[in-house]
Amino acid sequence: MTTNTKPRGLEGIVAAETRLSHVDGQNGILIVAGYSIEDLAAHATFEEVAHLLWRGHLPNASELKDLSSQMAEQRELLPVTLEILRSAAKAPPIDALRMACATLSLGLKDPNAVTHEADFAAAIRLTACFPTIVAAHARFAKGEKPIAPRRDLSLAANFLYMVLGREPDAVAAKALDSYWVTVMDHGMNASTFTARVIASTRSDLVSSVTGALGALKGPLHGGAPGPVLDMLRDIKTSANAEPWIRNELAQGRRIMGFGHRVYKVRDPRAEVLSRVAEKMQGAKLENRELFELARQVEQTALRVLNELKPGRNLRTNVEFYTALVLQAVGLEPTQFVAMFACGRVAGWCAHVIEQHEQDHLIRPQSEYTGPIDLKTNR
Ligand code: COA
Repeated sequence: MTTNTKPRGLEGIVAAETRLSHVDGQNGILIVAGYSIEDLAAHATFEEVAHLLWRGHLPNASELKDLSSQMAEQRELLPVTLEILRSAAKAPPIDALRMACATLSLGLKDPNAVTHEADFAAAIRLTACFPTIVAAHARFAKGEKPIAPRRDLSLAANFLYMVLGREPDAVAAKALDSYWVTVMDHGMNASTFTARVIASTRSDLVSSVTGALGALKGPLHGGAPGPVLDMLRDIKTSANAEPWIRNELAQGRRIMGFGHRVYKVRDPRAEVLSRVAEKMQGAKLENRELFELARQVEQTALRVLNELKPGRNLRTNVEFYTALVLQAVGLEPTQFVAMFACGRVAGWCAHVIEQHEQDHLIRPQSEYTGPIDLKTNR
């Protein structure tokens, strides 16, 4: 029998050099292209941070105007994409997004090129279209017709307009924008790694991002905030938090919104989003009560996890407060992972651009553990 000393799941292995983001898990710090996530989430818009990742610097006024208008012009979907979304009306939004994403190469001038020019064109197209896709799918799911995108609104405000069918609330649009900035990039997470592996074969940007969507979907990555909201709704009162959590752990289940492969302290994005969620709570009593409950459940979960899983350093992760922000904005839990994708897509595109620049195939090895002496005897 061989003893496997290899890190499980590539833990701790450096798979790429990047100028895009740095995750310091011991100290709870996230740097995006030189800036702290707290700074960017408070002071920069989604379009500005996308420019930062794609072009290496925050845009000046004319660069921002250019990028914003290019993204606004690219929001409309082709009939074929709408047809797929109509057919996928009953599918989970993240699956519909994956199917529709694959069609976006049809609108590109040179979909298979891996040049800088082709990558930027594809990055703008995908980032502009993702919210339109999620909104159109949400309308089809309710048996309604999609609402055409508007060019005069920011990406986040236009998304809310297309989903809710009315003038977007400025506070909600700002909250969604800050959420997308907060989740835009995060080191070598599973979906980003997937995108880079695909790009490293000199495959195109649309293929790379379509693969990344498949990786994001799983509950161990982007699929947690829906279950976080289900958990809070199931717990109902703070008195019920402790027995509920103990019962989950006794059944061998994980508490969603806690634990992280890299962060051994509180995820800094949880802090940013808890502040965003707090600002959203004033309007509705239901929101305020949910926020209070979440705070209490968080404290209880941290205490019980520390007691029953000592030494694992299981702390609050980004998904916990994501659930509160997205529900306060008016979205359904089934849409949460697709919302995550609408923010992360700009980061995936930046990584594909960077991987294409580096142009080196990612191809690790495996350790064979099966037999070597079988015979077919045929
Ligand atoms: N609830 C309960 N136990 C948890 C846990 C959680 N949320 N997260 C990890 N653990 C436990 C595991 O059961 C394991 O316990 P054991 O040593 O007794 O077997 C130990 O902590 C280590 O878990 P492991 O799966 O090896 O850690 P990881 O680094 O691979 O896991 C996550 C990282 C995110 C996949 C994991 O923490 C998790 O599943 N969290 C819940 C889902 C979630 O919130 N995902 C969003 C991530 S941003």
